[in-house]
Amino acid sequence: MHEVRAQVAGLPVAFDPIERVRAADAVGRRVRLRGWVHRSRSSGGILFLTLRDRTGTVPVTIRKDAIGPERFQEAEHVQLEGAITVSGVVAEDARAPGGREVRADQIEIVHAGEPFPIFKDQTEEFLLDKRHLAIRSQEFVHMFRLKAGLLGALREFLAHEDVLEVTPPIITGNAAEGGAEAFAFDYFGRPGYLGQTAQLYLEAMLFPHERVYAVTPSFRAEKSRTPRHLTEYTHLEVELAWCDLEGLSDFTERMFVRVFHRLAERCPDELRALGRDPAEFARVSAPFDRISYGEAIEQLKRQGFPVEWGSDLGTAEERALTLEQSTPRWVTHFPVELKAFYMLRTPGDVRTVEAADMLGSEGYGEIVGASCREVDIDRLVERIRAVGANPADYEWYLDLRRHGSVPHAGFGTGIERILRWITRREHIRDTTPFPRTPARHTP
Ligand code: 4AD
Ligand code: MG
Repeated sequence: MHEVRAQVAGLPVAFDPIERVRAADAVGRRVRLRGWVHRSRSSGGILFLTLRDRTGTVPVTIRKDAIGPERFQEAEHVQLEGAITVSGVVAEDARAPGGREVRADQIEIVHAGEPFPIFKDQTEEFLLDKRHLAIRSQEFVHMFRLKAGLLGALREFLAHEDVLEVTPPIITGNAAEGGAEAFAFDYFGRPGYLGQTAQLYLEAMLFPHERVYAVTPSFRAEKSRTPRHLTEYTHLEVELAWCDLEGLSDFTERMFVRVFHRLAERCPDELRALGRDPAEFARVSAPFDRISYGEAIEQLKRQGFPVEWGSDLGTAEERALTLEQSTPRWVTHFPVELKAFYMLRTPGDVRTVEAADMLGSEGYGEIVGASCREVDIDRLVERIRAVGANPADYEWYLDLRRHGSVPHAGFGTGIERILRWITRREHIRDTTPFPRTPARHTP
């Protein structure tokens, strides 16, 4: 016990990460490990544990005759997810997943724990109630390591392209993507909203910096209970000056290609553990397929959908457009009425805007929403009125069109949407540790 307390108090006791056990020279060496009991079984005077730390899991065997009957009994009573430290020698074991095990001759019990409430075949609801514990599973470990890898690769690409990361606010007095779907609250006696997009702020920051991006939580008060909607999600948004729709879609494709190649290099274990082949990601190349909204409507009609020019593309329509596709597909030039007030009219076509949605392959639906922004103040005011909003509420945004207004374009993409798509998960909630949906905002 003395040793453990010393270690808990932060005194220098060296521990090896579990991944050390897999090193080429590890067999025969003594290691000290610490972590949580992932599996446990006792049989014939031998305790078979699987120990987990942040770097992975390893089988550990502890013999009664190595530690004495009393200690052995204590060790047997450590629960799943109990915390221990062990010391022992690395041995070859063909049956173990990594081909190695640790034969321990010392164990310290940091916290034996209560019986762990999560086991096989529990309902989805129960697992969501116990999400704070469920996230210890290997499935979630791999998912959130992949998520970190994805965010890292995106930031690396954006830095490489000289796009500046900035920090827009989350609390706002405007509800940019349509007031009905914003979470509203009382902000010291005035209406406040949780941001649905950082776009308007990114547009303001574009004038001094030309290329900016932000990763923020975005909030959507939509009641839609679909497998691809969260009420809070991680939003990556990019805004580029001197950019048209062609330039923006090229940039976005380059980003996905580069990021997928990076994931293949840096997260092959996570991808494999989640059921995907890293080689598939290494093969992704641009350009992606592109069709106009008008062509999409024609395709959908041929497939028997009751749609016409002006119909919105919902989950079913987006799915039908990409079910047979093995690469993403852009749908471009939507009718003005279907899109947000800030989008630029297509030059030479009053019916459409310079917008493009990137749909994931295999039916996964919208991953990216991109558009050129209206530069002319009069047309912008007209569009604000047309969507039933008050130009006075956008006064500061209109200032951006009074002082050096230049062509610019940007996009937003949901990190959880990307993850759901690349891991082929049924539900978006599996891609975030504490999912927020209309039915749930705890734990
Ligand atoms: O298409 P959206 O609504 O576009 C915007 O918010 C723009 N202002 C972005 C911009 O141009 N800066 O949202 C952008 C992306 C979608 O393509 C989707 O990937 C994701 O955000 N998204 C959601 N992800 C999870 N749950 C939801 N409820 C989402 N709504 C949008
Ligand atoms: Mg959209």
